[in-house]
Parts: sequence; structure tokens; C-alpha cells
Amino acid sequence: MHRLFVAIRPPEEVRDLLIDAMDDSPALRWVGDEQLHLTLRFIGEVERPVANDIVAALGRVRFPSFDLQAVGVGRFEQRNGGALWAGVQPKDPVVALAAKVERALQQAGLEPERRAFSPHITLARWNRRNSEAVDSFLRRNANLRSEPFRVSEFILFESKLSRHGAHYEEVATFDLA
Ligand code: 2AM
Repeated sequence: MHRLFVAIRPPEEVRDLLIDAMDDSPALRWVGDEQLHLTLRFIGEVERPVANDIVAALGRVRFPSFDLQAVGVGRFEQRNGGALWAGVQPKDPVVALAAKVERALQQAGLEPERRAFSPHITLARWNRRNSEAVDSFLRRNANLRSEPFRVSEFILFESKLSRHGAHYEEVATFDLA
């Protein structure tokens, strides 16, 4: 089985800015450089033939390239953990591209994604909440803003889970016009 997701990978200068925003709080598990991405669609585990259909369907997506900036930070909280993330602006082209990706995946036979899409770049995760570490990160980075960067491709990634955490491999890259 292959655990897949579709994402945008920020360029190195933006990743450097995001890494600089991270601190050494042991309460938070910071994401490594190779893991920084903006998920357009989480697919989950599929068999090889379905993965091939997904690659073919994503290859038919037509969408113009656009500019994006990392802007601001925020948090998600669930019962058993949470995440810190950087936001992006403008949201409209990302939402529109994600919708095209979603349509392509449904054409490839996947079930529709039921959860609302909220574009973000995850920076850290936690299992046990440490309000001080979270609040201090949010306070310090409220004005985070990268230079605009061109999004000229999106990527199908495979997530390989190991004892050392998730490792992401590029399966295929799709150019925007
Ligand atoms: P996250 O950044 O909000 O954690 C690979 O796992 C990517 O897919 C992550 O960026 C993760 O989002 C995203 N994702 C979305 N839904 C997921 C799910 N149900 N399980 C695992 N990852 C998911």
C-alpha cells in the first residue's frame, strides 16, 4: 500500500524563514525541512493500480501558476494533540487548485473529501498541550510574512512511516501553466 498526499512545496528561502521561526521548546515536535509543505489533498493508503490512476488524473489538471506568501501563524487543536502552522495568502488560488485536484481524484475513483479545506503549512505538532510554548510561539510570530513565491507545480508525495517519523518521497510532479 502507498500512503499518498498532494502538496505544494515552498522554495528554500521560504522554508528557511519558517525554520528560523521555530524555537527549541521541547514541548513541541518541530517539522524538518524536508517535511515542510502545504497539503492540497490527503489521500491515504491506496494500492499500486489506484496510485497509477491518480498520477494519470492529476496529469490532466490544468491550472495557471500563481504567487503565494506565507503569512501569519495559527494552531489546530484536537482532543489528543495539536499543531502549529503558518498561513498563506492569497487563499483563493490555493482553494481553487485544491478543488481541481479534488475533482481529478474523484474522476480517478476516490471518495470525496468531506472535511473543509484550510490551507496551512504545519510547523510543529504536540501530544500533550503546553500552553506556554504554544502561546509564546504564536505571540512571537504573529507578524510572520515571507516574500511572495511562485507556485509553478504541485507534487504527489508518498509518506513512508518509520520509527524515526514520516519521510516524504516525491512520486510525481505536475506543472502549472
Ligand atoms: P497536517 O499538515 O495538517 O498535519 C501528510 O500526512 C500530510 O497530509 C500532512 O501535511 C497532513 O496535514 C495531511 N493530512 C490531512 N489529513 C490527514 C489525515 N487524516 N491523516 C494524516 N495526514 C493528513
